[in-house]
Amino acid sequence: MRKLLLAAAVCALAFSPATVSAEDPIIIKFSHVVAPNTPKGKGSERFKQLAEKYTNGKVKVEIYPNSTLYKDKEELEALQLGAVQMLAPSNSKFGPVGVKEFEVFDLPYILPNLEALRKVTEGPIGQRMLKLLDSKGMVGLAYWDNGFKEMSANKPLRMPADYQGLKFRIQSSKVLEAQFRLLGATPQVMAFSEVYQALQTGVVDGQENTPSNMYTQKMHEVQKYTTLTNHGYIGYVVVVNKTFWDGLPADVRGQLEKAMLESTKYANEISAKENAEALEEMKKSGKTEIIIPTAAETAAMRKVMEPLYQDMASRVGKNLIDEVTKTTLGATN
Ligand code: LMR
Repeated sequence: MRKLLLAAAVCALAFSPATVSAEDPIIIKFSHVVAPNTPKGKGSERFKQLAEKYTNGKVKVEIYPNSTLYKDKEELEALQLGAVQMLAPSNSKFGPVGVKEFEVFDLPYILPNLEALRKVTEGPIGQRMLKLLDSKGMVGLAYWDNGFKEMSANKPLRMPADYQGLKFRIQSSKVLEAQFRLLGATPQVMAFSEVYQALQTGVVDGQENTPSNMYTQKMHEVQKYTTLTNHGYIGYVVVVNKTFWDGLPADVRGQLEKAMLESTKYANEISAKENAEALEEMKKSGKTEIIIPTAAETAAMRKVMEPLYQDMASRVGKNLIDEVTKTTLGATN
């Protein structure tokens, strides 16, 4: 009898108006803070296109670029609360939600090139790190590149002494904070969407970012000098709300995984070119003078920043730092 009742209930559900609404598309709100014409902006557009195609329209992806929905810190909170389903915050932004390990990617000069990075993210370390996000209500789906960071200010930055006394905007990472302190500068955490204005009005003197982020936010127009230090890396973890993800029908989740795999490949293929083109545009604009540091200047910067590996070991994890360093050894372009 109970079985019959259950079957009747299932039938009733199957033909009830609720089923009609069950055919409404599943919405994925994908919020991010950069411009659409960046590696992340383009990667998210590709994901939307593929996700909607592979699920036959069962899933609709709404992209909110340029902090139109949430700024850096808020977007992670919004994801945890389920107000948005997907994000791609930079590695540097996971500290405030309690996953400090991703700050290992902020250690200066730890990644000599993209090949070295891939060895980490595509190997056991990268996979293990993604798992750390589970306990924070998110699932880490993929690593997306942006690229290597340059330093900028209204004065030429060549040697460590040039940073002395300047105020720099940083992302919310303790490693980045310590990095600027070692240079004798004052770090200030600030949302990405506020950087242009802060530079323009002199709230901060300088910043570090990739050419793509600098160019698409017009930072180069308010910074007289950009030094190609390539001292650090900005990359992203694509994350989804765990409850949302686990609650998806298995077939839909599989189709989304396929879309994510392909859009990841695409995003990581275009990142270097996007940054090279942005740098060219910055040069052409004539608004910022591009400085290429000498080997001696780079060596001096590396030397000043080296204590970070020790100083940050208790925060990021000594074993993790050692493992990453070992994995990246010998990686060539
Ligand atoms: C920044 O805050 O500088 C970057 O993380 C922005 C981004 O998402 O690339």
